[in-house]
Amino acid sequence: MDLFEYQARELFAKHDVPVLAGEVIDTPEAARAVAERLGGRAVVKAQVKTGGRGKAGGVKLAADPDDAVAKAEAILGMDIKGHTVHKVMLAQTADIAEEYYVSFLLDRANRTFLAMASVEGGMDIEEVAATKPEALAKIPVDPIDGVTEAKAREIVEAARFPSEVADQVAEVLVKLWNVFVKEDALLVEVNPLVKTTDGAVLALDGKVSLDANAEFRQPEHERFEDKAAANPLEAAAKAKGLNYVKLEGGNVGIIGNGAGLVMSTLDVVAYAGEKHGGAKPANFLDIGGGASAEVMANGLEIILGDPDVKSVFVNVFGGITACDAVANGIVQALDLLSSRGENVTKPLVVRLDGNNAELGRKILTDAGHPLVEQVTTMDGAAERAAELAAK
Ligand SMILES: Nc1ncnc2c1ncn2[C@@H]1O[C@H](COP(=O)(O)OP(=O)(O)O)[C@@H](O)[C@H]1O
Ligand SMILES: [Mg+2]
Repeated sequence: MDLFEYQARELFAKHDVPVLAGEVIDTPEAARAVAERLGGRAVVKAQVKTGGRGKAGGVKLAADPDDAVAKAEAILGMDIKGHTVHKVMLAQTADIAEEYYVSFLLDRANRTFLAMASVEGGMDIEEVAATKPEALAKIPVDPIDGVTEAKAREIVEAARFPSEVADQVAEVLVKLWNVFVKEDALLVEVNPLVKTTDGAVLALDGKVSLDANAEFRQPEHERFEDKAAANPLEAAAKAKGLNYVKLEGGNVGIIGNGAGLVMSTLDVVAYAGEKHGGAKPANFLDIGGGASAEVMANGLEIILGDPDVKSVFVNVFGGITACDAVANGIVQALDLLSSRGENVTKPLVVRLDGNNAELGRKILTDAGHPLVEQVTTMDGAAERAAELAAK
């Protein structure tokens, strides 16, 4: 999960990384009181989850509270690289002498963590990385040892930070590492980390990406979720503990057991769709190994609630959970949905294979639900589901 700058700033403050006072607002008028609290002058910054806000006109200096209202008015509603600005942060201003760059990230290719640092920070670090790679120091960080004071000094030296800021930058690096580890982040980036004209070192921008796999031990992070931006179906699926991703432009709902099987189901449906009016998968949904009737009902409810879906393909390979259990799950799920008052009107194509497939197919045949069709092969079932969606 990527955070907004104001959220990253909050985590920085929690771990004593030096930041300037700031507050978030979503109406221009609210800027006046905040600017007054911040001492009159303020920087007005668009809160969108993309970089390059400064260049796009999303970071503006306001001279006084009236000006802050005008600048907030100009920035709210702005489109920055396809992101609409719904919130701005007002922050105290810094008198910048120098702009640096520092970050910690997961280096998957080398199976370790990586520190990156440069004294040529600011708005064009991507360009520095591309044209002057020697100006961007890259230091591996051992996950067990982490960033000790000695490691921080190694990073400071490699990036050739000026001696007068070396101690402060090293201290900031240790604190940023605490953010990285204690908050379970995959990325912590500060661009710019600045030296002010009076010699202080401050983080003026922050980018943090949190590891969703660590959600279970970070209950406080739930408040960072951007519920407004989340797809409502995805949010509903998440609340039910389902592994669901909505796919834009599709019309065939997909349910399968096992991520690999669901991925290949998306492929065969897209392929079959080429012959059938461009039918495409509308979602990814993996109901996992032990698919109970309730999980199946929850999955079907989400998929049938998607107005884009015209047909559903249930593709199950019986393993530990045998096909007869899945078939019973489907029958019970359809009953459960009608008892919940759901009007099931979309055709379901079911393919059962693997453990107890015969028995599973018989259960569905005996149930005789008018909307359920069975096809024994995966390709055949994909074809039928695409055909039904194209109708
Ligand atoms: N609080 C601030 N005081 C003074 N200048 C700032 C402040 N925040 C940002 N800036 C300036 O604006 C530039 C862009 O802001 P930044 O937050 O880095 O946004 P982005 O990286 O999205 O362009 C910074 O490089 C810095 O020069
Ligand atoms: Mg920046």
